[in-house]
Amino acid sequence: MPVLAIVGGQWGDEGKGKVVDQMSENADIVVRFSGGDNAGHTVINRLGEFKLHLVPAGIFSDVSCVIGNGVVINPAVLISEIAMLNKAGVNTAKLAISDRAHLVMPYHILLDELEEKSRAGKALGTTKRGIGPAFADKTNRLGIRVCDLLDKADFKERLAMALEAKNTLFTKIYGVEPLSLDEIYNQYCEYADYLTPFIKNTVSLLDEALEQGKKVIMEGAQGALLDPDFGTYPYGTSSSPLTAGGCLGSGIAPNHIESVLGIFKAYCTRVGNGPMPTELMDATGQKIRDIAHEYGTTTGRPRRIGWFDAVAARFSCRINGMTALAITRLDVLDSMESLKICTAYELNGKKIDYFPASVAELERCKPVYEEFSGWGMPITHVRRFEDLPLQAQTFVKRIGELAGCEVYMACCGPSREQVIHLKPLF
Ligand code: GDP
Ligand code: IMO
Ligand code: MG
Repeated sequence: MPVLAIVGGQWGDEGKGKVVDQMSENADIVVRFSGGDNAGHTVINRLGEFKLHLVPAGIFSDVSCVIGNGVVINPAVLISEIAMLNKAGVNTAKLAISDRAHLVMPYHILLDELEEKSRAGKALGTTKRGIGPAFADKTNRLGIRVCDLLDKADFKERLAMALEAKNTLFTKIYGVEPLSLDEIYNQYCEYADYLTPFIKNTVSLLDEALEQGKKVIMEGAQGALLDPDFGTYPYGTSSSPLTAGGCLGSGIAPNHIESVLGIFKAYCTRVGNGPMPTELMDATGQKIRDIAHEYGTTTGRPRRIGWFDAVAARFSCRINGMTALAITRLDVLDSMESLKICTAYELNGKKIDYFPASVAELERCKPVYEEFSGWGMPITHVRRFEDLPLQAQTFVKRIGELAGCEVYMACCGPSREQVIHLKPLF
């Protein structure tokens, strides 16, 4: 595997952190390529339990870790994450931050909050980490990049220009106090001093590694159904969590990607607003939430729960070019008497097998289900597919068939070793 992309297939939180941590054992470099600290990747291994927002989940293995150009970085969050890892005895000297990555600034966070408030009943349910406004500035060519921190005079000039526009918005449109140029400047100069040793030309670093035949994992953030083009727009995020986003967000050309591992939960979850055709608003949904402790890693919000949606999964496999699937949280379903998978939608009295572009249409889609009997026993100790109860084997295989991509891996617990390989992985 010169390059293996590991991407979320649903609405995020599929267990990418766990799988990347596991797979990093066989890699040389792990690169995050999208999003920012809206991501929350949980890793549980011999060193403890970690919730990573910016640092790649490969950091616990003997690999180099890169925060790619496609990530928007809040330096305060990154610095506290590095400190947390160091305290736990994790070596962060092997971390590199792209000089091309954009920065999340205090005005992005304030704007995220004000924009959400002004949407009132139509709020997107963002993580309020300033992610949308930071990507908007990037596209609008008003962003400040990591490399700008290295030239303080130039940085001040860019900051003054960007802040002037934002302060006009704050005072004239939103009626709040302007932010202080000097305060932000001084604070970011301190961050710059701390982060300077990590700042690298990561495009060259990755290119040289690939030349030497090194193995690279692209670590996705978010999930395909939050993609700005293909997700439930506008209820999604602002950068592409897809495999293609992995190329743009790291500088690795598409022809280097050999395999794409799509991560899916054995059911669906979503935090934030927007349509979710298989959502369970009943006792079954609450039961799954309670068993799985489905609360957001970044915001602590309760996650919405639904049955596995194979229509969305098929779409996700296709737009990501997935070559293998990992099904996580299978153990969460241990005590369910029966299970369902959505195989099609019913829209305006007609059966459809595609994921509609319009959120209004998606809201009206009624899931068509296939039912399965549960296995009614714990599987957290199982390590071989043939040792799973037959009902669990059938359920996993059927997910692969319906999604149109083979399942290579099933996870039956949150820690690194709770993994069942159906096939050798890469
Ligand atoms: P990510 O954003 O895709 O990395 O996923 P999160 O870390 O936000 O959420 C996934 C949650 O599921 C975390 O609490 C993980 O510890 C947990 N998890 C991952 N795989 C499994 C599994 O197979 N079984 C159980 N019970 N929990 C899992
Ligand atoms: P990981 O990498 C789940 C969701 C938010 C909201 C929408 C927009 O842990 O899977 P944003 O702050 O990005 O503008 O919010 O996207 N969202 C996520 N949901 N997991 C994530 O990341 C998410 N990152 C963003 O909840 O609905
Ligand atoms: Mg998460």
